[in-house]
Amino acid sequence: MNTSTSASTSKTEPKADAKSESKTGSATEAAYKIDSHTQKLVDEIKQLSKKRNAVILAHNYQIPIIQDIADFVGDSLGLSQQAAKTSAETIVFCGVHFMAETAAILCPTKRVLIPDLEAGCSLAESIDLAGLVAWKAEHPNAVVVSYVNTTAEIKALSDYCCTSGNALKIVQSIPEDKEILFLPDQFLGSWVQKMTGRKNMHIWMGECHVHAAVHPSKIDEKMKEHPDAELLIHPECGCLTPYLDRVARNAPDSKDVLKVASTEGMLKLATTSSAKKFVVATEVGILHRLKKENPEKEFLPISSEMSCQFMKMITLEKLHRSLVEDVFHVTVPEETASKARLAIERMISIF
Ligand code: 13P
Ligand code: SF4
Repeated sequence: MNTSTSASTSKTEPKADAKSESKTGSATEAAYKIDSHTQKLVDEIKQLSKKRNAVILAHNYQIPIIQDIADFVGDSLGLSQQAAKTSAETIVFCGVHFMAETAAILCPTKRVLIPDLEAGCSLAESIDLAGLVAWKAEHPNAVVVSYVNTTAEIKALSDYCCTSGNALKIVQSIPEDKEILFLPDQFLGSWVQKMTGRKNMHIWMGECHVHAAVHPSKIDEKMKEHPDAELLIHPECGCLTPYLDRVARNAPDSKDVLKVASTEGMLKLATTSSAKKFVVATEVGILHRLKKENPEKEFLPISSEMSCQFMKMITLEKLHRSLVEDVFHVTVPEETASKARLAIERMISIF
């Protein structure tokens, strides 16, 4: 099996007209037409962004038109790195709330905006402060590793932050004799445990409702239909560990076509692989960039139902309003931010 730990972002050029190359019928890949209303919004967003010295960051799961207008598109890690190094005065974060909070933690002097405050994350919601405090009390000497999909308060109580792109490296960097509390994603946690063979690692039983729903039988079904495809799986997927176990038992040779990666890692693997067809097990928003950057290759979602309603809350209209009305400002109290920053900076320095 191959794994990828890469993370970066893509500099995008907004296009005047984008057409779907969809072979899957997924709602998020539908062609978007640039009518005169949309073109006006696009032009105004570009002008306002320039006038305000703003940078627009978009996650790989955003709707296509938001990805195309953004200055940078990437995964959680790549976007935090972009936020950390930008010289722009304002960061407009087209993603979910914890991502904008991470940018606010890393850039305390900048104005961080999110176009919709309701864009949350079921995974980040799966652990609260009281839960973590109690867990830490049970394991007072443990090192706490928090996935980036957590609130600033949870990060502030953590020793390390990690993303799907670097969770393995972060855990491997912690001395063997140290107990680890890994949170909140149980599937990422059990994959990291499996890959590192770490025995003294406790895993919080949280999950993302979009990725948890993927069943190993779905993968079998798709791979049977497309035996020539490579399989790209996000480590938040519920199917990952049982699928890996099954592959190891029944078809060890097929492990070479299975690649576990963050969203940005998937982009890199798709570009560098000699395969022409890929089955993609993550949120369908990623298909836009996969197809745009690899027009000669075919990408099939494991399920066109894998859509995150929180990511899809960010629309062109809301992005426009965000720049016009200077909303919604995301801030983190400095006391929390300074502690959370340490955990994030430790992650960035290892990666
Ligand atoms: P990435 O860090 O791989 O972009 O994933 C973020 C996320 O929310 C996955 O559901
Ligand atoms: Fe959160 Fe899942 Fe949406 Fe990612 S896909 S932002 S983990 S709810």
